Amino acid sequence: MTCALAPAPTVTGPLDVLGVPGQINLDYAASAPCAQVAADAVTELLPWYASVHRGAGALSQRCTLAYERARQSVGDFLGARPDDHVVFTRNTTDALNLLARALPTGTTVVTFGGEHHANLLPWPRGPVRLPVPDHPAGAVRALDAALGELRRGCDREPPVLVAVTGASNVTGERWPLAELARVARRHRARIAVDAAQLAPHAPVDVRTLDVDYLAVSGHKLYAPFGAGVLVGRADWLDAAPPYLAGGGATSHVGVATHDVRWVTGPARHEAGTPNLLGAVALAAVCDALADADRAALHHTEQQLLSRLRDGLAELPHAVELHAFGPDAPRVGIVSFVLAGRDSAEVAARLARQHRIGVRDGLFCAHPLARRLLTEASTRSGRQDLPATALRASIGLGSTREHVDRLLAALTTLG
Ligand code: ALA
Repeated sequence: MTCALAPAPTVTGPLDVLGVPGQINLDYAASAPCAQVAADAVTELLPWYASVHRGAGALSQRCTLAYERARQSVGDFLGARPDDHVVFTRNTTDALNLLARALPTGTTVVTFGGEHHANLLPWPRGPVRLPVPDHPAGAVRALDAALGELRRGCDREPPVLVAVTGASNVTGERWPLAELARVARRHRARIAVDAAQLAPHAPVDVRTLDVDYLAVSGHKLYAPFGAGVLVGRADWLDAAPPYLAGGGATSHVGVATHDVRWVTGPARHEAGTPNLLGAVALAAVCDALADADRAALHHTEQQLLSRLRDGLAELPHAVELHAFGPDAPRVGIVSFVLAGRDSAEVAARLARQHRIGVRDGLFCAHPLARRLLTEASTRSGRQDLPATALRASIGLGSTREHVDRLLAALTTLG
């Protein structure tokens, strides 16, 4: 995307993103635009498109190789250990549902109430849902106490899985993953990270963080071709019933209905023809990001984010939503309300009159969004806050002009 008032771009080439001139997209947290490198990878492979793991022809062989190379790239990008599985899914929701179906019987899942629905709803047996703390250190303390309680007086050690987000899709606030992982380890629990919102903005590495599972979505990682991924420990995945039953997940199917042997490895959960183009697009972005100066990208994004938040703070009727306090580390996501204004109507006017796309609503994180709206009302002393919020989110391709145009539009609407 190019803009007349944009400063000298720090992103050029493969990590340019596609866009429509005149349209300002500030809704990256829902679906990020397509990176040039993802579009190029798909375009290059399309003439060769054929079956994966199912054909002897040259096209099929190339596609099989491309698919498995994509698995390697995505796994490398996310720091997969040699014995981890990298399973292609549709998105983060799908990946976490797969993990939920692979939990050993009797597993207790511990989450926080601030999670996206994708990390609240799939877990069986009603997970332990901890209240959202008001500071990252509070999350670590709360988890420590909850796991201590779960383990206390337990001779048997049933499996425990902690499921936590890397960055909130409502506030952009980052969760203290390494500390939470240390606490989980101390209590012999595993930990799964919903990295859908974190991975597009910052390096995420399962080995460095010492987490067991990690899920991301291609459509938030500049690769909108319908692939996501679950990376993590092989043992539970190999022991679980296949997430999808069908061709490619079996080594033998006999005449008798019970006579089925399932393979182990990622293929166990990937039955049916896989999403080759989605996997290849996601891998292309992972490779490009791995080669990029992520510290520079982070710096640029944080400058834009500060500009956006500072601008919002100057608007008399705008109130930002946050759980951890205004100075907590965050990625390029800001949710806010305009007092006295219906958020859906504001979003519609931004789109219609200013060609600016933001998201409005409760962002598939209803418990958190509702709580933050109530807190925002108390904090600001305003009784006239709407029941839903607005969210602006940025990333590769976002510019100062985009931010300034949003702020100017909100000023006229406010
Ligand atoms: N999870 C996506 C969002 O936050 C859809 O908008």
